Amino acid sequence: MAPDPAALPNFLPSAYPVNDYGPIMKGMAIGGLGIFHVFLAQFAIGGGFLLFWFEWLAQSGREPLARRLIDSVFRVLIFLSFVLGALTGVGMWLTSIQVSAPTIGLMVDEFHWIWATEWIFFWIEVVAGYAFFRYGDRLSGRERLTLLAIYSIAGFGSLFWINGILSWQLTPGGWVTSGSIWEGFFNPTFWPSLLFRTVVCLVLAALGAAIVLNALPGFSREERERLLHQLSPFFLPMLAMPILGAWYLAAMPADSRGWILGGSMVMTMFFNIAAGSSALIGGYGVIALWRQKNYMNGATATLLAAIAFGATGAGEFIREGARKPYSVRETLYSNAITPAQVASLRETGVLATDPYPLRDASDYPTEQLREGRLVYRNLCSVCHTIRGANALDALMGDWAIEQKRLNVAMLQWTEGFMPPFAGTAEELEALVQYIAWEHKHRPAAWPESRDPAVFAEIREALKRAGPHPAPRAQELAGSEEAR
Ligand code: HEC
Repeated sequence: MAPDPAALPNFLPSAYPVNDYGPIMKGMAIGGLGIFHVFLAQFAIGGGFLLFWFEWLAQSGREPLARRLIDSVFRVLIFLSFVLGALTGVGMWLTSIQVSAPTIGLMVDEFHWIWATEWIFFWIEVVAGYAFFRYGDRLSGRERLTLLAIYSIAGFGSLFWINGILSWQLTPGGWVTSGSIWEGFFNPTFWPSLLFRTVVCLVLAALGAAIVLNALPGFSREERERLLHQLSPFFLPMLAMPILGAWYLAAMPADSRGWILGGSMVMTMFFNIAAGSSALIGGYGVIALWRQKNYMNGATATLLAAIAFGATGAGEFIREGARKPYSVRETLYSNAITPAQVASLRETGVLATDPYPLRDASDYPTEQLREGRLVYRNLCSVCHTIRGANALDALMGDWAIEQKRLNVAMLQWTEGFMPPFAGTAEELEALVQYIAWEHKHRPAAWPESRDPAVFAEIREALKRAGPHPAPRAQELAGSEEAR
């Protein structure tokens, strides 16, 4: 069931301008930055715990060498998380508002105070981190530990708060019917996602510290071995990963899980990459490093960190991909249209809400092609490009014109991870003509196609497809068969 549209902020699909990133599809522009950002942020959060642990080892006399490692790791941590983390973080806000202001707008609107809380935690993390960086060597042992504890708790807190918002996008849970912020926040994937990410944080921090340790001059091999062994317990939580992963999958909606476990080739491949990489890192960390007390040199640590980066990328891709066709499940499609709007947009047209002209309008020989380009921009371009990533030309350029019409009209049946087509029959024909024109490499002359019989056919196909997303549509079809 979809939430009451009247309760949602009234964003029209194209109330805000969108940016075109050329061959990079829009979703990828956010995702690409997001992978860097998540990787750095998780490293910084795990780093807080790791530094606290090492500071405690140093102060309790268990490991006198720890103090030297702390100061070097901290410098790397500050650089990576404060400089690169901030750049990628701000970059994500920029791309998010350029790609889908309604999605990020809905997130801010629903979770106003939670965002505020998250930002305060982040602010505390930055202040504590900077204070430690600047004054750490002048502070007493107790003050150092306190500052690192504040840094770690604030870092973990920012993960805690953002995790509720991000997992809500995939599994909004009881929020969908009740509208309760806390039901949305502590949604079905909140805990598996939080615990999973926490494990990743610890592992990334340990790998980062191992790289720094190997790069530091002035340690003997034996001293490095001792410190590495102190790092090795940070890999132990990886033993819980298969269980956390299974819990995460079990908490997802069945169709999302289906894409990952064989339904979509790309997503299944990424799932296997993420699982295989994690098994490799976990196996190495737990068996070679912790049990057998082997030495991990800089090259191995760097290689494992690179693999962890790949696994993070694959994991984020899966998390984003499994949500399709939604950016907020049951509530908002990836192209910023709500499920409730589909039926009315089929009457009024999606272009009626789009006040933004084409940047290169004079390149199109007819008004219909301009319209087609605009329909593509509104309904398809968040997940497709014409000739770049996930290119419509490659996917459907070759199809006969009737097949193009039919499959676009039945979009949610063509692939369940696409939303239903949300425009009029005339707009659909304009889109199909536009894709055909692109396929012929934009000839200077192109006939307009305004045959009423064709429009009637398309209208019929749209009606057959229904305005619902695939699972709901199948459910309805099933109940009709039963009758
Ligand atoms: C939520 C994201 C999303 C949106 C929005 C979307 N698509 Fe897709 N579409 C995909 C994905 C993912 C694929 C799978 C690509 C693949 O198989 O390589 C796909 C595949 C396709 C295919 C190939 C289907 C097949 O079975 O071979 C066509 C045609 C297509 N899309 C057309 C469109 C058109 C036209 C629009 C806009 C009206 C659109 N899509 C909107 C995500 C989307």
